[in-house]
Amino acid sequence: MSNHASAPNPASRPASSPASPRRPRTQTIDCALGQNAYAIVVGVELGEKIVQYVRGAIDRDKVVILSSPKVAQFHVGPLKSALEQAGCEIDVILFPDSEEYKILPTVTAIAENLAEIGCDRHTLLINCGGGVVCDMGGFVGATYMRGVRWINLPTTLLAQCDAGFGGKTGVNLDIGKNLVGVFRQPAAVFSDINYLLTLAEDEYKNGLAEVVKYGMIWDEGLMRYLERNVAKVLNRNLSTMTAIVRRCTRIKAEIVARDEQEAGTRRVLNFGHTIGHALETATGYQRFRHGFCISVGMVAETLLALKMELIESPTLERLEKLLDRLGLPRAADDIDIDRIMNAMTQDKKRRHGRHNLILPLGVGEVCEVEDVPPNLLREVLEEVIVTFDW
Ligand SMILES: NC(=O)c1ccc[n+]([C@@H]2O[C@H](COP(=O)([O-])OP(=O)(O)OC[C@H]3O[C@@H](n4cnc5c(N)ncnc54)[C@H](O)[C@@H]3O)[C@@H](O)[C@H]2O)c1
Ligand SMILES: [Zn+2]
Repeated sequence: MSNHASAPNPASRPASSPASPRRPRTQTIDCALGQNAYAIVVGVELGEKIVQYVRGAIDRDKVVILSSPKVAQFHVGPLKSALEQAGCEIDVILFPDSEEYKILPTVTAIAENLAEIGCDRHTLLINCGGGVVCDMGGFVGATYMRGVRWINLPTTLLAQCDAGFGGKTGVNLDIGKNLVGVFRQPAAVFSDINYLLTLAEDEYKNGLAEVVKYGMIWDEGLMRYLERNVAKVLNRNLSTMTAIVRRCTRIKAEIVARDEQEAGTRRVLNFGHTIGHALETATGYQRFRHGFCISVGMVAETLLALKMELIESPTLERLEKLLDRLGLPRAADDIDIDRIMNAMTQDKKRRHGRHNLILPLGVGEVCEVEDVPPNLLREVLEEVIVTFDW
């Protein structure tokens, strides 16, 4: 699986006149899924566009914003006022969005709330938040009264590049993450880059790991763009981040359009995730954010590709250097390697009984390698997991 896309279009960057900084161009990307096709709008200050969409989508129906208290303190007030000024009647339901609340009882509570305020099948839901809000709001949208329309307003970098679209909705069980859910697509997505300005640093970095992943799996041009713009990326420069989110959105939309339900191509999105997920499991999801585990996972899986002679060392060096410059980890310390291996074995049982991994063939190109020998996996883990013996 490979492709040859070019770098984000520099012509879309705003003119650098300090007196009149031009707003980065808003762009609409189609998630081309036949009957389930929808638009993903990426830009800055999308309030007006959201209002326009909502007014066009409803008649006398109810509109409900689903969000969390944390996101709401920054972003729900202005959205609600803009919609109300446009004549819409809005209800807001807030629920906690930490990972431990991404469970069925929260879904039940939201659904009961919707029923109490009289929502029916014509209600429009607006999920405003990170991946937890989009996953759980999407699941509510897909199942409340057998399905209502919903739009996503992803507010984290990770959700704008990944969780906010693509159709995977769901919640966690005690035994594992995302084990209950359905594939169902939102009606539209609005990724406002301004939302990223209120994100905590770790949450921002969390999303950057997924951005690097897109460069590695699909787009050498994106990798080059990141390398050239590290300072702007770290400063959350709006035009740079608009170009990057737009690019990642295009890549994921293309992958999802080829393979909506993860029968093949979509698995390329798992690069860095086999080992990354095992690191998350081995540390009880407490020690590191997902993106940090994916960052180490990408290094480990690229090292594996090197050992299997799929790539030469410059590919690994290039990845490691970029992660370093972005402040993302390429190694972790003091995690029991047996626990990581164990987590991978559990994961393997749920899949096809084999260690199948997505490995790089170079920057921007990956392939699926079946049946990776466990001893090789252990060997790379021993290199990326630093143990202090004192
Ligand atoms: N459906 C998919 O395809 C898919 C893909 C990847 C991940 N996910 C899921 O996404 C979830 C992780 O999502 P996430 O990384 O976006 O984290 P998140 O939703 O857990 O949000 C992280 C934190 O940031 C806060 N936050 C969100 N937006 C903010 C903003 N603009 N300003 C300030 N604070 C803000 C939240 O309140 C939360 O405390 C996981 O549950 C994962 O399983 C789903
Ligand atoms: Zn991920």
